[in-house]
Amino acid sequence: MKLNSLFATFVAFSATSVEVDAFQTLPPHVSTLCWQQQYSSATNENVLQRIAHDLSIPLTIRSPSQLYASSPQYDTFEGTLETSHRLADNSYLLHITAPSNNDSESILPYKPGHVIALEIKADTETPGQNPYDRTEKTLKDLENNDGWLRAPFTITRSTKDSFDILIKVVGDKSYTLAHAPENTPIRFGGKFKVPIEDGIVESMQKAKENGGSIDKIVMISTGVGVGPCIGAVENMLSNQLEDDDPAENLERFRFLYLSKEQANAEVEFPKVELLGLYRENEDVVYGTYLTALKEKFARKFDWQSILSNYQGRLSSTENMMSYYLCSKGTDFRGALENTHYHLIGNGSMVNEFREGLQKAGVSKDRITEEIYFDHTAKPREEVVDRIAKAMNQE
Ligand SMILES: *[C@@H]1O[C@H](CO)[C@@H](O)[C@H](O)[C@H]1NC(C)=O
Ligand SMILES: *[C@@H]1O[C@H](CO)[C@@H](O)[C@H](O)[C@H]1NC(C)=O
Repeated sequence: MKLNSLFATFVAFSATSVEVDAFQTLPPHVSTLCWQQQYSSATNENVLQRIAHDLSIPLTIRSPSQLYASSPQYDTFEGTLETSHRLADNSYLLHITAPSNNDSESILPYKPGHVIALEIKADTETPGQNPYDRTEKTLKDLENNDGWLRAPFTITRSTKDSFDILIKVVGDKSYTLAHAPENTPIRFGGKFKVPIEDGIVESMQKAKENGGSIDKIVMISTGVGVGPCIGAVENMLSNQLEDDDPAENLERFRFLYLSKEQANAEVEFPKVELLGLYRENEDVVYGTYLTALKEKFARKFDWQSILSNYQGRLSSTENMMSYYLCSKGTDFRGALENTHYHLIGNGSMVNEFREGLQKAGVSKDRITEEIYFDHTAKPREEVVDRIAKAMNQE
């Protein structure tokens, strides 16, 4: 999925960006794609030329100042940030409503994994003291955007008139969103990247064309990267819900009931195993809920959290990887040949697992990914080798 990997590195509104024009697969209302120059000083045109060549797309490289004048275009829609719920340490779930009206063609529903631009007035009152400084880059962007802060975020879940985004507070913009009072007006727009389910469906189709199948989906997330995985799992599980489920389930599984209206009902997904990687227990998002899902849909869903401060990183030992990735219900061959992997979160985890899985023999078609930050984290060779080795154990 080359397309995915380009989108994975897409971050809007960067001062040091490169523009990729005429990207035919973008929705019609997006005329330019802004691609952050991840490689900053290390990068140069060569890297971009190579990527453009691989993808067979035309590439225009512009200087940062020119670029600034033409940030990526998307129609903005008005919405309301109804609530921001703290779900874990520094992690907040934003619930945004945007009733479709007759003037604007609504772009909802989104799907888990879509990346959008979210905007909030810079002078939004937040209780307490915002501990983060407003950077030069943000100040400059504010001038170009009528005093609205903006940043890209990934959709956790959506209905036809609302969407949720799980964010981590890491700076001025995320702090302002997380601490905004109830019912704060916001603006949003754009619809970038391949949603998680669509990537998986494509992978299942490819496997089928080649006479194989996908028997298991493994999702590995770090931190709030778990959000879109949860949304995708809800959609994939929703067709398992019986209409005559007892009413007490309504509240407990209300997201599944919401998903059911728009899910890929015709697709029967294989079992999903979600591995949420966190630093410590306080970082774990939706633990109780995920465990309830696992109990109700044991045949279709399993999840575990791995806490690096106590257990070490997943990639730190072969034993840990074979325990979590290979030995649960599938043989090693299954883990290599019939599993689809979705990797989401920090660049170091995603880059190392992508390289390691491929080195072990997992086809590119069966890996989808999204990097949240640290895109250029260089995969450590010994970790890549360890992942490959764990996957190839007899
Ligand atoms: C949309 O248009 C219909 C028919 O003109 C009208 O009945 C309805 O109230 C409008 N809805 C909104 C949200 O404006
Ligand atoms: C990336 O995620 C791994 C796994 O959770 C974690 O151990 C590591 O510290 C993270 N790196 C950064 C830069 O956050």
